[in-house]
Parts: sequence; C-alpha cells; structure tokens
Amino acid sequence: MKIENKEYKTIWFDEGNQSVKIIDQTKLPHQFIIKDLNTVKETINAIKTMEVRGAPLIGGTAAYGMVMAVKENNDPNFIKKSSEDLIQSRPTAINLKWAVERMMKKLSGIKSEDIFKIALKEANDICDEDEKFCKNIGLNGLTIIEDIYNKKKSTVNILTHCNAGWLATINWGTATSPIYHAHKKGIPVHIWVDETRPRNQGANLTSFELNEEGIANTIIADNTGGILMQRGDVDMCIVGTDRTLSTGDVCNKIGTYLKALAAHDNKIPFYVALPSSTIDWDTKNFKDIPIEERNSKELSYIEGLDENNKIKKILIYPKKSKALNLAFDVTPAKYISGLITEKGICEATNEALKKMFK
Ligand code: MRU
Repeated sequence: MKIENKEYKTIWFDEGNQSVKIIDQTKLPHQFIIKDLNTVKETINAIKTMEVRGAPLIGGTAAYGMVMAVKENNDPNFIKKSSEDLIQSRPTAINLKWAVERMMKKLSGIKSEDIFKIALKEANDICDEDEKFCKNIGLNGLTIIEDIYNKKKSTVNILTHCNAGWLATINWGTATSPIYHAHKKGIPVHIWVDETRPRNQGANLTSFELNEEGIANTIIADNTGGILMQRGDVDMCIVGTDRTLSTGDVCNKIGTYLKALAAHDNKIPFYVALPSSTIDWDTKNFKDIPIEERNSKELSYIEGLDENNKIKKILIYPKKSKALNLAFDVTPAKYISGLITEKGICEATNEALKKMFK
C-alpha cells in the first residue's frame, strides 16, 4: 500500500546489502524511517521493541531472522538456538512460532552451501503467501461490506481496534483489507479508529495508513465505541487477531473483548479477519494463551511531537503509581459473527474451522 503515493511492503530482502529492510513502526506517523536488519540479534530486537509488530508481520520478520542466522553461521546449533530466541521474542502472536517452525522444517538436515538460498526462498514464500492471503481476506470480507451498503445505500461505518492494517502484515492488512477493497470498488466507507492505548497503534498506524490511501476515518478514545454503537453510528466491527484457537476464541489487542461485548449488546456484527497462519490448533483453553505483559512505562509515558516538531516523551502518571500493562485479551467465540479468512468466511467454531482448513 502507499505512503506519500509510493507503494511499499512492510518488509523485504535487500539483495545488494544482504540485509532485511523494515519500516521502523516506532517512529510512525511522525517520521518515516527504513531500517536495515543485518543479524538475527537485530531481528529479535526489532520484534521485541515493536519496530515491527502485528502477528503476520512478526511471522514474516522471524522468517527473515532465520535467514540472517543462516547467513551469520550455518552451524546447526547456532541455527537451533536462533530459532528458540526468535520464538521467545514475543509470546502471544502464534504466527511467530508458526513461521520459525516452518523455516526449521525446511532447513532441517541441509548442510550444503545452498542453505542460505533455501532459507531465503522460504522466507520470501512465507511473505508472498501472507500477501496473497491478506488480499483474499479482503475479497471475502468485501462481500459483507457490500451487503451492508446495498441495504443502507449510504456510507458504511466500520469500527476497528489496534492496527490490523497493512503495516501489521506484509501488505493489505487483515481487518483493513476488506475496507481497502470496498474503497477501491467505490463503496463509501468511514472508519472509527480506536486509539488503542497504551501504544496507540490505532491512532499512529491505522489512521495514518488509511489517510495515505484516502479513506475517511476518525480516531476515537478507546471508550467511545460503546456510545457510538448505541447511537447507531457503527454498522460493523472488524478486528485482527494474534492467535485464534480452534474453538473460535480470538486473542487480540487489549480492549478487543470490551468492543465485542458492546457490539453484542447492540446487535452489531463483529468480525475477525485472519490468515490461517494465525490459527493455533493445539491450545484448547483460552486461559492457556500466554498474554504478553509489557513494561508499565508504555502506559505512564506518552510520546509525541513537541512545539519544536521534535519527538518527546513525557510522564503522565503520578510518580508513585503502579501500572499494569497487559497487551492482549481474549474474545470468546460466542461474541464473534464470523471469521474472515483467505478461504472464505466461517463461523467461529471448531467444526467450521476444521471444515475450512483441515
Ligand atoms: O502489539 P501489536 O501491535 O503487535 O498487536 C497487534 C494486534 O493486536 C493486531 O490486531 C493483530 O496482530 C492482528 S494484525 C493483522
């Protein structure tokens, strides 16, 4: 998708430098910086510090992290240790483990000089596949927006939480892909963008990318969605997910659950968009999902442009206060109207997921 009218993907391999290029998302929307990752350690750091974030992009980055590991040292012990360190860099998004395990499967037993080439091809394939899947999610989700528009005959108001946009994937996004496809088709859409405290991925990333694509959007504080739903100002919600259990329960950015409850109370369709790489077939109970707890300073400090256009961080909490920063929550399947996947839309149930993917 576009930034200042130029097409980008979120990550790519630079053949000349033999490095991985990323857009540093900690600097958006105020600065646009493309950064090189040269080693597996730098890749792990980029995931931990959220220079790259969003479940599918974390997976793609981890795949390239494995390429960096192979480039540095193709000793099997080093590659194995690198894979373990990558998997541990963030705990909740299952795509990370999925991508690293896929890379390890491809690389297992290969001792030849070709190992780097094989690793690079697999990482490129993982990213190309994600882009294709996200495009299909968009085409499938478009049918829901079209249906609402055909009934309503005026702007479709969609609420989204966090950033499940193209910046969270390789391209297109998950939750945003149906929106981009609707916009391209000429369906008028307006997006309510949850600010998404504490890191403000909604305001900093979703609103930013929608602006760059010329899509009408309004940032709202995280607690505003409920009253907008009661007023009839929300036609549907679409969110992404970091891990979808085979039961249909969905783990996503903290606050998603409360939006789903409000949508349920107001009979507003609540959809979750995901590529199949986000499905966790093994965990059966949502209480077993590892929920990332991040540094409480992400809550107590806020960052923005000061009066001299310089990025500044300021403390907004009382110095003596404690803060708890849980990064994800789980929305039970019963509150989800449907899962929009690359293969089609299905119910958030084990039977429907199995039928679609197994
Ligand atoms: O902490 P983040 O910014 O990595 O969290 C991202 C989200 O919660 C997204 O909604 C999710 O990864 C889906 S991305 C298509």
